[in-house]
Amino acid sequence: MKTKTLCLFALFLSNSAMVSAADKTDDPKHGENVHTEHCQKCHTDSVYTRDDRFVKSIDALSKQVIRCKDGNDIPWFDEDTDAVVQFLNQKYYKF
Ligand code: HEC
Repeated sequence: MKTKTLCLFALFLSNSAMVSAADKTDDPKHGENVHTEHCQKCHTDSVYTRDDRFVKSIDALSKQVIRCKDGNDIPWFDEDTDAVVQFLNQKYYKF
């Protein structure tokens, strides 16, 4: 039973990996999709527009996305992370 669960989990992981790889990755639209899926559990988009937001550069944005992603075991490829950085920059930060 335990092994079967693990197998299913592995299948799920490799499956979503294939979807991500096949997707058009640098696309901010892709960033928006994966962002909606994984990033709205703790904060809404209003943290990106509040007056005292702490992200002040594209570099800091990239670091913060990685920090939030890694802290939450979100299984993204670098391409997914980049797409989210692009999406957030285009929509909110505009560096
Ligand atoms: C476990 C909860 C949690 C999840 C899930 C989460 N974050 Fe965060 N995030 C935080 C906290 C806490 C802060 C800091 C908020 C504060 O200082 O008020 C933050 C801040 C941020 C900021 C900085 C906002 C600013 O001030 O400029 C960005 C950008 C960000 N998160 C992106 C993301 C992205 C992208 C994801 C999806 C990968 C994500 N977060 C998922 C908890 C989370």
